[in-house]
Amino acid sequence: MTIVEVLKLSADYLQKHGSDSSRLDAELLLACTLGLRRLDLYLKFDRALSAGELDQYRALVARRAKGEPVAYLTGHKEFMGLDFEVTPAVLVPNPDTEVLVQRAVAIARESQDPVRVADVGTGSGCIAVAIAHYAPNAEVWASDISPEALEVATRNVSRHGLSDRVHLTPGDLMQPLAGEFDVVCANLPYLPMGSSLPAEVAAQPAHALYADQGGASLVSRLLEEAPSRLKPGGRVLAELDPGIFAVASESAARHFAGHRVHRDAGGHQRVLEAWS
Ligand SMILES: C[S@@+](CC[C@H](N)C(=O)[O-])C[C@H]1O[C@@H](n2cnc3c(N)ncnc32)[C@H](O)[C@@H]1O
Repeated sequence: MTIVEVLKLSADYLQKHGSDSSRLDAELLLACTLGLRRLDLYLKFDRALSAGELDQYRALVARRAKGEPVAYLTGHKEFMGLDFEVTPAVLVPNPDTEVLVQRAVAIARESQDPVRVADVGTGSGCIAVAIAHYAPNAEVWASDISPEALEVATRNVSRHGLSDRVHLTPGDLMQPLAGEFDVVCANLPYLPMGSSLPAEVAAQPAHALYADQGGASLVSRLLEEAPSRLKPGGRVLAELDPGIFAVASESAARHFAGHRVHRDAGGHQRVLEAWS
């Protein structure tokens, strides 16, 4: 079978098994199997697959059909135009989080001075790395409670050549991060325990997904901690599920002078920005 034939069959199969990005999934998995870039598949449409390649590809497609995220199968995910290593120890970087990064980069670029940024719950390190990459005046201190996640983040920081400006520390929220910050970013777990989730979300680590108090506990705790850790004029940017926005807004109103919301590409309330 040729690339074009295999893609058609596997995309149909994945669609029947519930993938809403079946063609893209099929292409990413085939490119990974063949060691090609995804766009190269289009230049080699008539290339025949060997029996070994077909077996390897079938195994990946079968795992994807059972709900494993494509990024765990390929070991990579693009975020903010940058490539990140991803393992089952970390949340798969999500395009919704780009809203937060773009706002943090805009704040950093408004300043002529060095900008101190915190990234709380860094996971793969995607937020910390993207901010440091796009805002050369930013230095980022990032925390996570998961040592396994920090191992992945360390490799991502190093492969993007940012070890001098992104510092990773294990621990709870801002506790391991010394000093005061111009921007505190956080994409902490915010889903209620026991949420019913699509298989590819449920396959991600529980410590990256769920929080007590209907999903609001960690964000609420951060909003309490952060004001004493902000420089004058500093800001908190916290990614949220729209379902906890009301609770988070109340908390922001108690602890900050002002706050506003940024919506994601789907129009959902996604990032709370708060200032003292
Ligand atoms: C939703 S994931 C986000 C990961 C990454 N920032 C991203 O946007 O892809 C949340 C991360 O917060 C970490 N985390 C959970 N509770 C934490 C806590 N109390 N303190 C620090 N990090 C925590 C998890 O281990 C996980 O890596």
